[in-house]
Amino acid sequence: MSISVNPLKFPANALEPFISAKTIGFHYGKHLQNYVNTANTLIKDSDLDKLSLIELVKQSSGAVFNNAAQAYNHQFYFDGLTPVKTEVPAALKDKIDQDFGSFDNFKNEFITKATGNFGSGWTWLVVDHASGKLAVKNTSNAGNPITDGDRILLTVDVWEHAYYLDYQNLRKSYVEKFLDHVDWNFVNSNLNA
Ligand SMILES: [Fe+2]
Repeated sequence: MSISVNPLKFPANALEPFISAKTIGFHYGKHLQNYVNTANTLIKDSDLDKLSLIELVKQSSGAVFNNAAQAYNHQFYFDGLTPVKTEVPAALKDKIDQDFGSFDNFKNEFITKATGNFGSGWTWLVVDHASGKLAVKNTSNAGNPITDGDRILLTVDVWEHAYYLDYQNLRKSYVEKFLDHVDWNFVNSNLNA
C-alpha cells in the first residue's frame, strides 16, 4: 500500500490574492508530491508499507518520518484552507473564548508564534493532551504535535516555500491573511472528531 493525498478542494487560483496559483502549483504540485513520492520509495517492500499515513507519522522516524509527516502536514494544511469565508461555529468560538480569553487573543497568539517560528516549520492550533485546553504550538521541520498526544485542529505552513513567491520575507502578512481563509468547519470537525 502506498500513501497518497487528496486532491485540492479548490482550483489552484481560488485563493488569489492570498496565495497565487503559481505558489499552489509549486507547493501542492511539486513540494507535497515530492514528499509523497519519497515516502513511498522509502517504505516500499518494508513493514512500514502496511501502515496508513497517520500511523507512519506516529510510528516512524528519520527520513520516513520526515517525508510522511510532511505529506500528512501538507494534507492537513490544504484541507484547512477555503476560498469562501466561513463563520466560526458557536461551540468552537466558545472554546476559543474560554481558553484564550477572546478570539482576538487567539489570533494574536497564532500570528505571533507563527511569525516567530524560527526557520522551517508549522504552527498549530491543538487541544493540549495534558490540560485539555486549546493551545497554539510551534513545531520545526516536519514535526507534528500528534506525536506528543495532542489533538490537532489547524495548521499553517511557515516553510518559506509556502509564501515566498507571494510575500518574500513578509511571513507575518501571509499568516494574517491565512486566518481570513481558514475553513472553520474543518477546525470544528477536528475538535469534535
Ligand atoms: Fe509546505
